[in-house]
Amino acid sequence: TDSIRINPSILAADFVNMQRDLARIAAADFVHVDVMDNHFVPNLTFGPQMVERIQATSPVPLDVHLMIDDPDRWAPGYAELGAASVTFHLEAAHEPVVLARRLRQIGARAGVAVKPATPVEQLFDVLDEFDQILVMTVEPGFGGQGFMAEQLPKLRRLADEARRRGSAVWLQVDGGIAESTIARAAEAGADTFVAGSAVFGAHDPDAAIAGLRLAAAQ
Ligand code: DX5
Ligand code: ZN
Repeated sequence: TDSIRINPSILAADFVNMQRDLARIAAADFVHVDVMDNHFVPNLTFGPQMVERIQATSPVPLDVHLMIDDPDRWAPGYAELGAASVTFHLEAAHEPVVLARRLRQIGARAGVAVKPATPVEQLFDVLDEFDQILVMTVEPGFGGQGFMAEQLPKLRRLADEARRRGSAVWLQVDGGIAESTIARAAEAGADTFVAGSAVFGAHDPDAAIAGLRLAAAQ
């Protein structure tokens, strides 16, 4: 929790102008890449072939968020193509700790995500196995949904536990993050913020990133 990171989600970018839109977020820390398989979530985006091109094109490192079944099978491939971080869902993983170790071994930051109804307490004893934990602040699947403020107590419990254990794990929030919500998430302990519509819905995405950074520090 040394600093604040803003990771724009390209789910809100123009999929046929991806290179143009990636060039508009040079002020980002990472680009958040949402992979959906139409099974774990009721929406479909793209797979490794597209992510490999994004990796080759992006001015900033990739933060891959896998909303897919059986990440044990698929997540290592995203680490192998060079993503800086690969986050899989706890609800979908068969052996989350084994998978996290594999991702680290390949050279990626290992991330685990929890949906709104999933408790975080089950992660407390294995915090050290992960480099980042993603607390979803919407039901995963779509951009542009409203921020679930009821997730903040869960985030705060996780942040307290991480502090208590002296953990360096990054705490990420994803869903409904905007200038009006980011300070509450930061105050509850988040240090890494995913924002889709708040960044790509703005006329100047890099200016929107700067605005989010300022608002998070309030
Ligand atoms: C939702 C995705 C998010 C999404 C966020 O399932 O995981 O990354 O792009 O979009 P906004 O910021 O518009 O809520
Ligand atoms: Zn996401």
